[in-house]
Amino acid sequence: MKTYLLIIFSIIFIPLQAIDNDYWQRPSQIPTPKDNPITPQKVELGKLLFFDKRLSRADDISCATCHDPKYGWADGVAQSVGDREQKGRRNSPTIINSAYLRSFFHDSRVTSLEEQALIPIETDVEMNIPLEVLIKKLNAIDGYKKLFLEVFGDAEINKENLAKAIATFERTIVSSQTDFQKWNNGEKNAMNQAQIDGFNIFKDSGKCISCHNNFNFTNERFANIGLGDENDLGVYEVSETKNKIWKANFKTPTLINIEKTAPYFHNGSVKTLKEAVHICGNGGKKPVKSRSPFFRDRKVSNQEVNLIVEFLKALTPPEIKVEIPTDFPQ
Ligand code: HEC
Ligand code: HEC
Repeated sequence: MKTYLLIIFSIIFIPLQAIDNDYWQRPSQIPTPKDNPITPQKVELGKLLFFDKRLSRADDISCATCHDPKYGWADGVAQSVGDREQKGRRNSPTIINSAYLRSFFHDSRVTSLEEQALIPIETDVEMNIPLEVLIKKLNAIDGYKKLFLEVFGDAEINKENLAKAIATFERTIVSSQTDFQKWNNGEKNAMNQAQIDGFNIFKDSGKCISCHNNFNFTNERFANIGLGDENDLGVYEVSETKNKIWKANFKTPTLINIEKTAPYFHNGSVKTLKEAVHICGNGGKKPVKSRSPFFRDRKVSNQEVNLIVEFLKALTPPEIKVEIPTDFPQ
């Protein structure tokens, strides 16, 4: 990764904005690149591609295999399983609100949804099909050629337009009225007392919001919470400088939908939300010495962990209504 990006992503968060009700609102404007505006037809095309298993070597894996609406747009297993039943080394993150992220993957190694979308297609432990092969395969499907012509004015399918369509569908998967949102907007009964207490600990004494902040509950910066190992050094692997301070650093993930996306952390090593909160609330996994210094010395009691867990359950949005395609272009 470029050094300047590391610097931008790593500055410790200092809230410049007052933490008032507005602070927690999702901006209604979805950030969209100038050259890839959202149109209803493009969303529909992107949705077909997202759910189409023919985007893999053996016609058996789609993006939705690992980002399944049923599992909060993640996949419910510790490490995702791809082509030939191979296990990757990382846990599938939810794609909810990925429209608002500035960096993708647990190590932030790419900076646009368009760039991200092509990577799992070629990754051997995921969909495992070279892009040239996939582009040929798609160009042999008349139904897709017709749709690409309608959307992009070009029937010849290329990887840029493939990525643009998939990214556009993903931009429509955003969180709406969670109980926390409703409460924040003045519906006083939307959260119970335990959840309100949990929120106060999350925001004040628990200091969770120094990393899990804004409406999407992530500052998109990195920390070493003591869960990296030789098999996965996180940001260090993709940094140009190979400075050891990046070892075992991973991106702070969103907490939207967190109740539904177990198991937790970049390697899926933690099964329950309670344990995940306990680890993050008490300075990470001990006794790893390299844990980030500004993170190490925090303490959250068991009672407080339980209240925070109750609060986190208020971050599950109502099911996003997506009609899952059953008929694909032929
Ligand atoms: C075999 C399972 C699998 C498949 C198939 C898969 N993904 Fe993923 N996805 C993952 C895993 C695991 C990660 C995290 C990888 C990492 O950090 O290196 C990820 C990360 C992502 C992210 C980044 C989210 C974030 O918060 O940083 C997005 C967006 C995404 N995938 C979209 C897609 C799209 C689009 C497709 C289809 C073209 C796809 N994925 C196919 C497992 C999968
Ligand atoms: C110093 C920054 C920082 C602070 C403070 C922090 N976290 Fe985290 N949190 C992270 C990072 C980084 C990860 C991902 C680490 C990994 O995957 O190895 C994470 C992961 C999590 C996860 C698992 C998310 C998932 O999708 O797997 C939960 C739950 C969580 N944090 C809750 C909390 C709570 C609750 C607090 C406050 C008690 C808190 N965190 C404080 C940085 C932080």
